Amino acid sequence: MSTRDIILTGDRPTGPLHIGHYVGSLANRVVLQNTCTQFVMIADVQALTDNYEHPEKVHDNVFEVACDYLAVGIDPTKTTIFIQSMIPALAELTMYYMNLVTVARVQRNPTVKTEIKQKAFGEGIPVGFMVYPISQAADITAFKANLVPVGEDQLPMIEQTNEIVRTFNRLYQTDTLVEAKALVPKCARLSGIDGQAKMSKSLGNAIYLKDSVDELAKKIQKMYTDPGHLKVQDPGKIEGNTVFEYLDVFGVDVQKVTELKEQYQRGGLGDMVVKKYLLEQLEILIAPMRARRQEYAKDRAQVMKMLHEGTTLANQVAQQTLYDVKKAMHLLY
Ligand code: TRP
Repeated sequence: MSTRDIILTGDRPTGPLHIGHYVGSLANRVVLQNTCTQFVMIADVQALTDNYEHPEKVHDNVFEVACDYLAVGIDPTKTTIFIQSMIPALAELTMYYMNLVTVARVQRNPTVKTEIKQKAFGEGIPVGFMVYPISQAADITAFKANLVPVGEDQLPMIEQTNEIVRTFNRLYQTDTLVEAKALVPKCARLSGIDGQAKMSKSLGNAIYLKDSVDELAKKIQKMYTDPGHLKVQDPGKIEGNTVFEYLDVFGVDVQKVTELKEQYQRGGLGDMVVKKYLLEQLEILIAPMRARRQEYAKDRAQVMKMLHEGTTLANQVAQQTLYDVKKAMHLLY
């Protein structure tokens, strides 16, 4: 990876970010910003596709997400952080790309399908929601990104983007748009505290980066373990046991985690003890972030200034791509 690698990634501001986001993509971004040219977008336009009735929620969470970024160590001197709705070129590119994608193709997109099931859109599915994979292709291509660090659930979005890139370049006989590769970490998906397959705000099973120690302790207390492990002396299962899944990811001392697993499986190790250990291990990661976050959250003006500066730079890059796209499409008059 080098400075010639360009990264575009982002998150919907519908709530503060959780530790699933951290292992899925934030941790990667903190490392990659040292060697690549990185853009991180707060996707308020995309957030509105399923939150259009609650614009104030999206607005407030732009600041929350910005604080989370800074708290985990995304450094605005190395990474351009910006707000999606302030980049008009993204909306324009979306408009042009829409011609290159069939309705059937977006309906087949697995991420879209899963979300439609989860969200139970009452009155029907908004067109804006169906189109969001195309808008995401605009996000990625506007920055000519070739790398996208995301969680596993976003893979179909990258595939869709690359199809658009290939169609565009072929139809308009150009090499303006660049294909992107997803960068998915080994632990691409962290279960929720209830043991469900995905940690998410809407499922109410998330541990947030901004959680206090008390909140963290309470959540770990409720965490799903082995329902058959009733007495301390009983042998317990570690497969499907969320506490051990988290220890595999967040445990600093691998040797110690291995010992705990052996003891748990033999019997004689209570859930309480393992949970207390997990709390300590998670605190090693979260405590410094929480402290940094509190500092940033106090200085709203400074955080907004950083966002405005990032957005100015992002606009220049996206405008250039839009110009190239319009040129390839014979739209310069
Ligand atoms: N779809 C992402 C999410 O659900 C957010 C996002 C919008 C994104 N545009 C992107 C991610 C471009 C990576 C690249 O959080």
